[in-house]
Amino acid sequence: MTARPLRLGVLISGRGNNLQALIDACAAPGFPAEIALVVSNVAGAAGLDRARAAGVPVAVVDHKAFPGREPFEAAVTAQLEATGVGLVCLAGFMRLLTPGFVERWRDRLINIHPSLLPAYKGLDTHARAIADGARFSGCTVHFVRPDMDAGPIVVQAAVPVAQDDTPETLAARILTSELEIYPLAVRLIAEGRVAVEDERVRIRDGSALPAPAVNPPPGA
Ligand code: GRF
Repeated sequence: MTARPLRLGVLISGRGNNLQALIDACAAPGFPAEIALVVSNVAGAAGLDRARAAGVPVAVVDHKAFPGREPFEAAVTAQLEATGVGLVCLAGFMRLLTPGFVERWRDRLINIHPSLLPAYKGLDTHARAIADGARFSGCTVHFVRPDMDAGPIVVQAAVPVAQDDTPETLAARILTSELEIYPLAVRLIAEGRVAVEDERVRIRDGSALPAPAVNPPPGA
């Protein structure tokens, strides 16, 4: 018997590249998750058009229509519960979440962040990595905790920083990896292979390691 797909709720505010990666992954035969609902707090978010084009249900919950964060989040949770969502994926969702929402969805709420956490939490990650002369930056999928950009790490990708990178060129290179690791993290969770133990993620049958990367490469 095949397990029922994990139902995803994807929260967005903008262009929706990561949403598109999840849409595409879920469309592949045998992928163990499906998108039940896309929620945007911005009515004009381009990601909503991506969802509609894929036939995915959408809801707009405009934070400006609510008197505070809690009632806004209660409306989001009501939408997610009504569609039977089992995992909430933040994908460029530009609202800070209260501890109440984070605890409501504890270990069922993940985020993608464009740095190798715990380095470069917050905004302007690429400009800060370049300014520091970092040789690598990258991206992280993690379970969400009340502190911003904190929580058990599910998957990371390390991405080299080029000497002449601008924040835009580095962002584009890292985005390519984001679009790979977000579906990977969702698949691992949906397959039941991800456990949070003492605030660290253990992945069942996930012990093989990639080759180390060196930048500049030896012999450069
Ligand atoms: C991505 O860089 C993601 O890491 C960050 O916000 C951006 C969203 O981009 N959290 P998109 O909406 O997926 O194109």
